[in-house]
Formats: sequence, structure tokens, C-alpha cells
Amino acid sequence: MTRIFSGVKPTGHLTLGNYLGAVRQWVEVDQYRAEALFSVVDLHALTVEHDPARVRRLSRQAATLLLAAGLDPERCTVFVQSHVDEHARLSYLLECTATDGELRRMIQYREKGALARAAGESVRLSLLTYPVLMAADILAYGTDEVPVGDDQAQHVELTRDLAVRFNQRYGHTFTVPKATHPRVAARVMDLQDPTSKMGKSHESGAGIVYLLDEPDVVRRKVMRAVTDSGREVEYDRAARPGLANLLDVLAACRGAEPAALAGAYTSYGALKKDTAEAVVELLRPLRKRHAELVAEPGHVDEVLRRGADRARGMARSVVDRAYRAIGLLPAG
Ligand code: AMP
Ligand code: TRP
Repeated sequence: MTRIFSGVKPTGHLTLGNYLGAVRQWVEVDQYRAEALFSVVDLHALTVEHDPARVRRLSRQAATLLLAAGLDPERCTVFVQSHVDEHARLSYLLECTATDGELRRMIQYREKGALARAAGESVRLSLLTYPVLMAADILAYGTDEVPVGDDQAQHVELTRDLAVRFNQRYGHTFTVPKATHPRVAARVMDLQDPTSKMGKSHESGAGIVYLLDEPDVVRRKVMRAVTDSGREVEYDRAARPGLANLLDVLAACRGAEPAALAGAYTSYGALKKDTAEAVVELLRPLRKRHAELVAEPGHVDEVLRRGADRARGMARSVVDRAYRAIGLLPAG
């Protein structure tokens, strides 16, 4: 059976980008067609300045949102990365497989590293090695497919390279995975700055739709989305990124084609209004289920405990095999 692994970092509140780019696919398709694991990858939240209490809070919130979105613990494994030691155990072996050159070339390292330096902050070593830990997340489970947004494509490429290299040097150990992306909205852009990705944090948050935003807040953010001074509604990502982003979001909500939708609108205002309502409706059941789950935190903890037990059992044999293959003496 196909094995699927993906994850979300608890570095901020989950966004519409997370949902359309990744989580929706996990909920609607992946958990039904494969043996799937979905993780709140909390170790990855420690690569930049962080507040311990906030990371803890956001980890539980992310797990709750994944369940609220519709991940079914009877069908897939939902767990917190740090509850399973195998990730960190395997990461070190992969650090001994990767080169510093290939890690320094990673786009996210270059961008986030430059930002930290510009702010006068030091860059944590883990920001450089983070894609190796991500490779360990994936390879520990013999993963075939990694459903992610566009921004993670380079990291999954690195994971493939490391798997192939390790297998060539030490004998076949890892499955070589591939990334999968949603057809529409694989990269949702910030509504205020449509040339940059909708990330979990941006100075004002005005361009970010959070999954738990109140309907009126969602409407306001979408209605104020930055577009351009043109008149006709047409789908052109390069020339008219703001408009294209709205069409992508609406198309993703409706299961339609963005270019085809463009023809149905004669004004930006009408497009914004429909997009706002579509997003509000998309998020409505999720918000409701989230509120129910928050009222029973014991349930979420129990799901995570069982998920970690199951994940540990799956990862153990792969990671043990890698330890032997690379030349480490088995204990007793
Ligand atoms: P992160 O929040 O960086 O942990 O991302 C979790 C998942 O959501 C990854 O698969 C990302 O590729 C995806 N994702 C995050 N932001 C966006 C976005 N703006 N558009 C599409 N996918 C996204
Ligand atoms: N790096 C991913 C992100 O920023 C999160 C992540 C960590 C991940 N480990 C993973 C995604 C393994 C897929 C598979 O979004």
C-alpha cells in the first residue's frame, strides 16, 4: 500500500494557504487512498527565535485543527514529531550523508537566514540543517508520496537525493519518495502582497486568512485584497498576481478552473465578494468542529498518544536498518 507522510510546523496559526495547499488534500483524498501519517512537526518550530509556551500552545492547536479539518484517526496516523525519537535519531545519519554546500543552497535557508541577519539576530544552526530533519521525517516511514504546497518542492528533492545517495553507499535502505501538489492553489499568495506566499506570519496579518478567523474578518481581508488598476477580469499569474490569487482561491473552493472562472466576472468587486463568501463557507464546518474539540482536550491528547505509538512502531525498523547499514555496532 502506498505510504504517505506530511507535516505542518507549529510556528503560527494555520492559514488558508496551509489548508488549500496541503491539509485539504490530506483530508479529502490521501487518508482514504494510502497508509498516511500526518505530523505536527514541532522540532521544526525551534529553528528560529521561539517562545516555548507558544510553541506548546500552537502544537496542540495545530493538532486540533487537523482533526477539525477532517483527518480521521481511525484512517490515518496523527501525531506530534517530538513524541517519536526516530526522527532525531535518523536525522544525524542523514547529516552524515548531506553536504554543507547543498544545504546552503536551499532557498528557505537563504531567505530566512538573510532576514534574521538583517534583523541583527543570529542564525540557528538548525535553520541550516532543518531540511535534513525533514528528510528524516519522510524517510523514516518508507514514504512513497509527500503531499505539500509548492514551497516544499526543493526540500523533497533534497530528500530524494539523500535517499539515493545513502542507498548507493550503504545498500538499499530507503524508499525514494516524491512530492505531490494540489492542481490549483499549490501556492496561495498574501492578499496584501500577492508576490509573496501567504505565510503564517507577516507584519500586519491583513493579507493572511487564518483558519480560525471570524467570518467578518475573512470577508474584510478578502474584500481589501490588493489587485491592480486594470478593469477586465483575466487570469494571468505573472502580470496580475493579485487577481490570479483570488481566482485560484475561488477555483479551489469551488473545484473549478481559475481561467474559466475569470470569464464569468466583469468586476473585481463581484469576484472579491464571491471569493469571500466561498472561503467563509469553506471554513465554517472546520470552525464549528474545532470549537467542539477544544471542549474535550482529553480526546485530542489521546489521539496524539495513540498516533505516536503507531508511528514509533512504523519508524523503528527502518531507522534500525539505517543504523546497521551505515556501520554502527548493534547493541547486544
Ligand atoms: P508550514 O506552515 O510551512 O509548515 O506548511 C505546511 C504545509 O502547508 C506545507 O505542505 C506547505 O507547503 C503548505 N503551505 C504553507 N503555506 C502555503 C501557501 N501559502 N500556499 C500553499 N501551500 C502552503
Ligand atoms: N518543512 C515543512 C514546511 O515548512 C514542514 C515539514 C517538516 C514537512 N517535515 C515534513 C512536510 C515532512 C512534509 C514532510 O511546511
